[in-house]
Amino acid sequence: MKGNPEIIKVLNELLSDELTAIHQYIVEAEMCANWGYTKLHEAFEKIAIDEMKHAEWLIERILFFEGHPAIKLGELNIGKTVPDMVGSVATAEADAVKAYNAGIALAREAADEGTVELLTKILKMEEGHIDWAEAQMDQIEQMGLPNYLSMQTEGASE
Ligand SMILES: [Fe+2]
Ligand SMILES: [Fe+2]
Repeated sequence: MKGNPEIIKVLNELLSDELTAIHQYIVEAEMCANWGYTKLHEAFEKIAIDEMKHAEWLIERILFFEGHPAIKLGELNIGKTVPDMVGSVATAEADAVKAYNAGIALAREAADEGTVELLTKILKMEEGHIDWAEAQMDQIEQMGLPNYLSMQTEGASE
């Protein structure tokens, strides 16, 4: 089905952001694994896999609209410490929420309910990522970084 070029453009921008996020989170996941923070490794990896699903769904939609996936990777912002990494998840995900809300508004204007539905599904997952990052930032602040990190190792209790 021939799609609206403006919608395809937005889908491609969102796709580029998703692919950038996957790169960043997968590197950070491995850095956490290397430090022995098994739980953080799993959490970052799980978010990266969510972003991969988003990328797949966006590509499907672009192809459905007979568009061509045009990807421009953004700058990677690899954190050097756990607080940096968690903070940059919160920032990146807040940007994602803004971008998805803008995309939803555009799709609604174009009476493209299928795109509204897809972007809304992704938006809710991005809100979940912000929620996770903010909870980690709160925990670091409340219990102190050493206590927080000691809970992220393999044998630490839930
Ligand atoms: Fe995403
Ligand atoms: Fe996300």
